[in-house]
Amino acid sequence: MILPIYLYGHPVLRKETKDIPPDYPHLSLLLDNMYETMYNANGVGLAAPQIGLEDRILVIDLTSCEKDDPSCTGFKKVFINAHIIERDGEEVLMEEGCLSIPNIHEKVPRPNQIRIRYLDENLQPHDEVYEGYKARVIQHEYDHLDGILFTDRIAGIRKQLIRSKLNKIMTGNVSCSYKVKR
Ligand code: NI
Repeated sequence: MILPIYLYGHPVLRKETKDIPPDYPHLSLLLDNMYETMYNANGVGLAAPQIGLEDRILVIDLTSCEKDDPSCTGFKKVFINAHIIERDGEEVLMEEGCLSIPNIHEKVPRPNQIRIRYLDENLQPHDEVYEGYKARVIQHEYDHLDGILFTDRIAGIRKQLIRSKLNKIMTGNVSCSYKVKR
């Protein structure tokens, strides 16, 4: 089922999320819905707060990026109770967008490498290191779990320049090809 994506300005995008318990109800249905919602909006990642939930869950599918970046081949993953425990490597600037912030793209600085502990869709634990584009997308989605949006991380002058665009999103003055909630 395609769910509405919560837009910039909705308070749930600023909430701290919580780890889910092992008996979390209907987990696989939720994950299916998150993927369907993400694909419908042509996204490569989606975090639970973007569909109104305060849970530490995110889904990522980079298989559409394989041609541009072979390291993304086959990368489709669920990260449950995700916790980044190390960030390393040089800061890299790369343009990002977000399904909760339509029509805005800005360069965001992020470290090139992360180490993350998480559970997969079967609640099996993992402790893995990622770098490059994978690390970037994971960090973007992970930020959502801490109530952080990519527009919080851009330099002051650019932030000033997009303020009116952000205000338009908050007041509902934005067009979107997918179902949204504000
Ligand atoms: Ni986002």
